[in-house]
Amino acid sequence: MKISKYIYIFIFVSFLFPKKSIDKKVANLLDKMTMDEKIGQMTQVDRRFLNPQDIIDFGIGSILSGGGSVPEDNSIEGWANMYDSYQELAQQTRLKIPLIYGIDAVHGHNNVKGATIFPHNIGLGCTFDKKLVYKVADITAREVAATGIDWNFAPCLAIPQDERWGRYYEGYSEDPDLVADLGTATIKGYQNKLGKKHSIAACAKHFIGDGSTLWGTGDNDYKIDRGNAVISDEELYNKHLIPYQKAIDNGVLTVMASFNSYNGLKCHASGYLFNDLLKEELGFEGFVISDWRGIDEIPGDYKSDIITSINAGIDMVMVPGDVIWGGQDYHDFLRLFKESVLEGSISEERINDAVSRILKVKYMMGLFDNHYADRSYIDDFGSSKHRDVAREAVRKSIVLLKNEGILPLSKDVKHIHVAGLGANDIGMQCGGWTMEWQGKLGDITKGTTILEGIQSAVLNNSKVTYDINGENGQNADVGIIVIGEKPYAEGVGDRENLNLSEEDIATLKNMQKYNYPLIVIMLSGRPLMISDQINNWDAFLAAWLPGTEGDGVSDVLFGDYNPTGKLSFSWPNSISQIPHDYQDKKNPALFDYKYGLNY
Ligand code: GLC
Repeated sequence: MKISKYIYIFIFVSFLFPKKSIDKKVANLLDKMTMDEKIGQMTQVDRRFLNPQDIIDFGIGSILSGGGSVPEDNSIEGWANMYDSYQELAQQTRLKIPLIYGIDAVHGHNNVKGATIFPHNIGLGCTFDKKLVYKVADITAREVAATGIDWNFAPCLAIPQDERWGRYYEGYSEDPDLVADLGTATIKGYQNKLGKKHSIAACAKHFIGDGSTLWGTGDNDYKIDRGNAVISDEELYNKHLIPYQKAIDNGVLTVMASFNSYNGLKCHASGYLFNDLLKEELGFEGFVISDWRGIDEIPGDYKSDIITSINAGIDMVMVPGDVIWGGQDYHDFLRLFKESVLEGSISEERINDAVSRILKVKYMMGLFDNHYADRSYIDDFGSSKHRDVAREAVRKSIVLLKNEGILPLSKDVKHIHVAGLGANDIGMQCGGWTMEWQGKLGDITKGTTILEGIQSAVLNNSKVTYDINGENGQNADVGIIVIGEKPYAEGVGDRENLNLSEEDIATLKNMQKYNYPLIVIMLSGRPLMISDQINNWDAFLAAWLPGTEGDGVSDVLFGDYNPTGKLSFSWPNSISQIPHDYQDKKNPALFDYKYGLNY
């Protein structure tokens, strides 16, 4: 009887002070670990390049799926089976430390067929709606958890300043406070009940200055992506750190280092950024993950890259082992890392700090007790109730920028002609980071196109016709044309000019021949240059990259929803303004920050 009383007291105390008891568990486990096991915990490999046996042989502590890195069986069960098989191998290691598995579910579980795909961050930014963004993140977490995956490399807390950057759409806004609010809402949505299986670890990225690089300084053959960000101390504290401080104050568990350079030094090499600023000054207690091959871009040989980055405060390295694409073999990483420790270039203290941070996150997520997929979430995966929220997010993300009295359309217009590739292409309305890293055109996953939304919205006596280039729009009463950008991601999307494409200009010309009202909808990851075109349009809506629920667009077109979206980014008048401080009234933007019309 006596012992059980003490057990109850211990349980009660550890319940009262979970952090304390986790710190104790971490310290106990760390004491038992060999150096090899510790280095294994600091190593992340992409599933495509991993020999699963190395989870046992080298104690690999983390796996990721980079964009498009999907199992043979790309079904929910296929993912859950894959995840469980890796965790099963981890349970065969000496200390049974569970894996943590990361993925970019940046606008829904976007690698998995049938997942609910939400608007990219640029669209969510235009909703200015923290509650909605929390709901989007909560649903994303549930769909990610249904496949077992437990860590999302999101939210991106970039504050993009140059529309030519291929990652512009991954930012919520040009305003640091809005980025902080929506980024934190997202973190809370992912990490809403840590320890419960539908909670996933969030990752504030990319620390720091990813959206402030200068054109022409890009790395990796890119024009601006991964370039150099020249940031004064004043700007650092009054702009760039604002979203991160709020993320840390709200318990974000991981931070990802940024590819770019900060005032000429690669972020991945900067002890000032990670040791002094992020951990010491901002009080970050989670762990820092590198970006994909992020340490390789530090000047010097690979071994010095390892030493420099780990000593700078990177706790886990996304190696990721992509030798076939020119990356490093993770076995070399492990060997050179061990050498560096044995020769004293990396201290045991640094290793213990990094591993403690990683173990603490794994404990806080409940992975030690609960490391298999919870398949009860599979039923709701891609469900209509999830898609209803995505459709709400689409409605609220759309910004009405021009309306010469033509909108809202009535549902019994006799004949509507719809044109443009994007009107009937799920891949184009989803954009990058969807099914593949770069995204792709076509019927890539389950969803509703903008055209399908229009067709289901109109009454029976109304005719809707469609062609891609608008040549067959004669006899219609109104034309709707969807223009914009084909999918891209990261530096592949860096673009010197942001003019409309030749095909869009041709389609607009074809439609303008018929002299009926023309409604233009843009699918894009950023504002494009439209100043010399918009005067010929009777209405203009920015729909950004809305994801799978294209019927959210028709909800606005037909007035089922009175548009509330506002620009979370100023819209430049011309490319010569970029990057520009739009508060300069002598050189105003075409549309200001927070501009948006309603009915
Ligand atoms: C990419 C991106 C980063 C992503 C990581 C893993 O290159 O920079 O945002 O999380 O690699 O896919």
